[in-house]
Amino acid sequence: MARNFLSFASIVVLLPFVSAQLDIFAQLAGKKYFGTATDNPELTNASYVKQLENVLDFHQLTPANSMKWENTEPTQGNFTFAGGDQIVEQAEKHGQIMRGHNCVWHQQLADWVTDGNFTKPELLAIVENHCGTLVRHYRGKMYSWDVINECLNDDGTFRESIFFNTTGTDYIGVALRTARAADPHAKLYINDFNIEGQGAKSTAMINLVKSLQKEGVPIDGIGVQSHLIVGEVPSTMEQNLRDFAALGVEVAITELDIRMNLPATPALLQQQKEDYTTVITACQNVPECIGVTLWDWTDKFSWVPGTFAGQGAACPWDENFVKKPAYAGIIEGWLERQ
Ligand code: G3I
Repeated sequence: MARNFLSFASIVVLLPFVSAQLDIFAQLAGKKYFGTATDNPELTNASYVKQLENVLDFHQLTPANSMKWENTEPTQGNFTFAGGDQIVEQAEKHGQIMRGHNCVWHQQLADWVTDGNFTKPELLAIVENHCGTLVRHYRGKMYSWDVINECLNDDGTFRESIFFNTTGTDYIGVALRTARAADPHAKLYINDFNIEGQGAKSTAMINLVKSLQKEGVPIDGIGVQSHLIVGEVPSTMEQNLRDFAALGVEVAITELDIRMNLPATPALLQQQKEDYTTVITACQNVPECIGVTLWDWTDKFSWVPGTFAGQGAACPWDENFVKKPAYAGIIEGWLERQ
């Protein structure tokens, strides 16, 4: 209550002096950060970097690709951190905090892992070495790590990756314990998509976290990716975040974008604005939701058109770095009262 009162008072005092900025309003709402994903090739675009460095909007960065397995251990035992280091240096220049992404994922995995015909003990040792080396390299520099990425299917069963098929669920505990030892202060997350609303996959996530907690495996957070579709934000999102938080973990919106069928019309952009407000309001209303990360801030560098033909315009800024109505929608979300 006190937090809400102070936030509201601060907003009223500051509004005449500060033009709307995403992280300012997230902070006033009591959150740790508002941030964005970024990728190394984008850092050659001066206009892009200028906005990326606007700490009033972005107080947190996530590397979209450069810390993934295929980039960090492309051949067994040979680690390459140059791309990830560049993003960390970029963040450090402006005091932006970092989310690490990710330790174990079935995609963008090095072929030697998939094709190696490893036994269970061998693969668990490989997971341990990969996560340990990666997380240790960035020790003290990461707020959090997506240690496990996308380990569930939409029906709530475990995804049949090389990791699950070889080790069952043992790789999850090994990765989390290793990450904890490698950087005791980093918050350790399991991150997934289609867990925004209540349903089979969210229930499975709850059961997974409960079973890890029962076994004494370290788990600090659930990353709710939030790759959403205009007009289809789940109505149970806020309650679902509460259900996750009830486990005693923190929650973060880790990869937010809201795509539409192209072309973007004024009506779609208006609906998108409302959808961004709905998502941010859900986080705002759940104290354990500690922050929000866009999966890049501009349509110019969005992953969406490359994956979903005919869809796009998912970010709050357009391809020319002009703010869309969604930007104001985010601010309105932080200002919504419960
Ligand atoms: O690195 C090659 C480059 O050498 C080549 O010239 C170019 C040609 O297309 O491709 C480059 O690789 C691309 C890579 O991004 C780096 O830009 C891949 O084709 C492309 O598939 C890959 O997409 C990434 C995607 O993960 C892979 O699934 C996206 O950038 C990245 O934003 C996206 O992020 C994921 C999260 O990690 C997990 N959650 C879902 C999210 C969206 O898919």
